[in-house]
Amino acid sequence: MTPRTGTACACTNIALVKYWGKRDADANRPAAGSISLTLAGLVTRTTVTFDRPAGYDCLTLNGAPQTGESLARVSRFLDLVREAAGSRDGASVESANSFPTGSGLASSAAGFAALAVAAARAGDLGLEPTQLSALARRGSGSAARSIFGGFVELRAEGADPRALQLLSETEWDLRMIIAVVGGGSPKAVSSRSGMVHTAQTSPLYPGWLASVPSDLAVARAAILDRDLATLGEVAERSALTMHASAMAARPGLIYFQPTTLALMQAVIELRRRGIAAWFTIDAGPHVKVLTTPEHAAKLAEVLGAVPGVTSVLTSRPGPGAV
Ligand code: PMV
Repeated sequence: MTPRTGTACACTNIALVKYWGKRDADANRPAAGSISLTLAGLVTRTTVTFDRPAGYDCLTLNGAPQTGESLARVSRFLDLVREAAGSRDGASVESANSFPTGSGLASSAAGFAALAVAAARAGDLGLEPTQLSALARRGSGSAARSIFGGFVELRAEGADPRALQLLSETEWDLRMIIAVVGGGSPKAVSSRSGMVHTAQTSPLYPGWLASVPSDLAVARAAILDRDLATLGEVAERSALTMHASAMAARPGLIYFQPTTLALMQAVIELRRRGIAAWFTIDAGPHVKVLTTPEHAAKLAEVLGAVPGVTSVLTSRPGPGAV
C-alpha cells in the first residue's frame, strides 16, 4: 500500500565553511561547497499528508497557519515530490521547531530537511539519503547538509549537488555554544535573498568565492584529523570573509549588532587566555562558538554575561534526519 503520510525530524546545522552564493537559482545549485556540523536538540519535526485537493496545500508552523511566501515556497517544493510521485494531490503540512524561526539559527536547514524526508515518505519515493540530500537542497542549500549527522560536506559539483558525511556524530565529541542576541527576532534580509544580492552587487564576491576551495580542503583535513585549532581558524575566517562580501554589497548587508561584535571580541580574548573557542556567524546577529566539552560550561557562562545576550544554548554533534 502506498503511504500517504510521512513524519520526519531533522536537526539544524551550522556551517563551518559557509555557503553564500548560487550557481543557479532555479535548481538551487550552490556556487561553491560548504562544510557544517549538525547540532543535536535543535530540531524541526514535520508531518506531510497528501489529503487535499490539487492546488490547496496548507501549512502550519508552530501551530500557526501560514500563507503568502512561506506557504508558496513549501508548495513549490512539494511540486517536485508530486512530479516524482506522479500525483497532483494537495498536502497538509504541519511543522514545529524547537528553536526560534528566521533568526539566523538556520531554521530553513532543519525545516527543508524534515520536509524533504517527510514528503518523500508520504509520496513513497523510496529515496536513499544522498538522493534526499539533493531533494532537500532544492528547498534550501543548507538543508542538504541536515540529512546527515555529524560533520557534513555539501559538494557543489555535478548536475544535482548533494551532501556527504565526513564524520558521524559519535566520532568527534565537540560542543557548539550559541549566544542568542536580541531575542531571536526575525532577520531583515533572508540568507536566500542576501546571497543573491551579494553575488549581483558586491565587488568582494569573486574574492569570497575564490577563498572557498582552499578553506574546504583545510577544514576537511582538520575534521578527519580531529584538529580543533585548525578547524576553528578556518571557521572564523570563512564567516568573516562571507560577511565582508555581504557588507560590501550595494546596499551593504550588515547582520552584526553591537552585541555580535562584543561576543567576537570576548571569544578572541578567551582564546588568548587558553580557552579553546572559535566563532562563526550566519545571516543574523547570533554568535556560535566551537569548543571542547571541557571548556563548554565556562564559555557559556562568560558569553551569557555579555550585555545584549538573551540566552545561551549548548549543543553537541547531532544525528541525521529520520
Ligand atoms: O540554505 P540557506 O538559504 O538557508 O543559506 C544558508 C546560508 C548560511 O547559513 C549563512 C551559511 C550556511 O552555509 O549555512
